Amino acid sequence: MKRILIATIACLGFLAGGAFAAKHMAGEQPAMDAKAAEDLAAKSKCTMCHAADQKKMGPSMKDLAAKHKDDKDAAGKLSAALAAGGGKHPKVSASEADLKTIVQWMLSH
Ligand code: HEC
Repeated sequence: MKRILIATIACLGFLAGGAFAAKHMAGEQPAMDAKAAEDLAAKSKCTMCHAADQKKMGPSMKDLAAKHKDDKDAAGKLSAALAAGGGKHPKVSASEADLKTIVQWMLSH
């Protein structure tokens, strides 16, 4: 009986792990609507200069994600800086809320 119980628990753990891995591999971000963010990025022309995993005029989204991975509030700070403009980044025209959605999505790569 005890062995069956242990086997059942191990099996459940495996299933949960598998579901998580599958979700992660599909690039699903439950907290965010990735498709909507992607559309927003295209509409705001961010994707002209930023690609998922290849450097264009701007750094790739994977590079951005790696660079800012230790900063929990990176999306907030970066979108505020983009909205304010005046830095070395080319001028963007999108609301700060939209920028935050896009940057969060970029950093999820
Ligand atoms: C004309 C090309 C161009 C467009 C369009 C563009 N970017 Fe960039 N982006 C760059 C370049 C070049 C850099 C690197 C210089 C820098 O860090 O500011 C960069 C850097 C960034 C960074 C990293 C800043 C940092 O400090 O690590 C973020 C985040 C970013 N862009 C977001 C966006 C978003 C969001 C949009 C769309 C609203 C956008 N970019 C549109 C060229 C562009």
